[in-house]
Amino acid sequence: AAIPVLTIDGPSGSGKGTISRAVARHLGWHYLDSGALYRAVGVAAGWAGIDLDDAGALVRCAFDTGIGFRDDDDGEPRVLVNGHDATDELRTETAGAAASAIAAIPEVRAALKDRQRAFRRAPGLVADGRDMGTVIFPDAETKVFLTASAEERAERRYKQLRDKGVSVTLAGLLREILARDARDASRAVAPLRPADEAVRIDTTGQGIDDVVARVLALVPGRA
Ligand code: C5P
Repeated sequence: AAIPVLTIDGPSGSGKGTISRAVARHLGWHYLDSGALYRAVGVAAGWAGIDLDDAGALVRCAFDTGIGFRDDDDGEPRVLVNGHDATDELRTETAGAAASAIAAIPEVRAALKDRQRAFRRAPGLVADGRDMGTVIFPDAETKVFLTASAEERAERRYKQLRDKGVSVTLAGLLREILARDARDASRAVAPLRPADEAVRIDTTGQGIDDVVARVLALVPGRA
């Protein structure tokens, strides 16, 4: 039988990362943070001085950039870009904006396709992203689409950044989130949309544990 895949797609701030990691831990499955691949290419392009308008150079960069994942001694996930620990840089708004811009280039998405599929290893994979259920793993046996109101997503992001000591305004974050949603949903290639068979879960006002339990109950043999 095919190695099982659980896809968890949705907009930024829907809680995908937190929920996907927790579910993967419960199942003892591998975890793919596909957004980190786009962010890594964006960061590597920045290091190389590549212009975000230079599609050809960005596609080469997508093929050439070394991207590695490992957990540190505390079990915290770290991302290596061309051998350098770039975890903190990847989380910045600049890296997110660069990722969103390059993710709109079809050849960049194609360049990252096989790398994403290579994460499908026994005993199973939890894949977190925008097009996991629609494009990368269309044959996944379980597909989830997480949503949350834009206001709640902005508030979650606001708390995260405030805890890190970054000064931002809630109104500014809400504007950015709405702009990124519109860009991700309206692009010609792999627009953000739920797979037809995806189970939609609205996480607005829901605790992490409750959402994790609801997702786990959808995985065959785990109910
Ligand atoms: O999920 P994350 O915020 O890290 O993703 C950063 C950007 O990468 C998103 O705004 C989106 O444009 C892009 N992305 C994508 N397809 C994915 C994952 C991320 O287009 N599977």
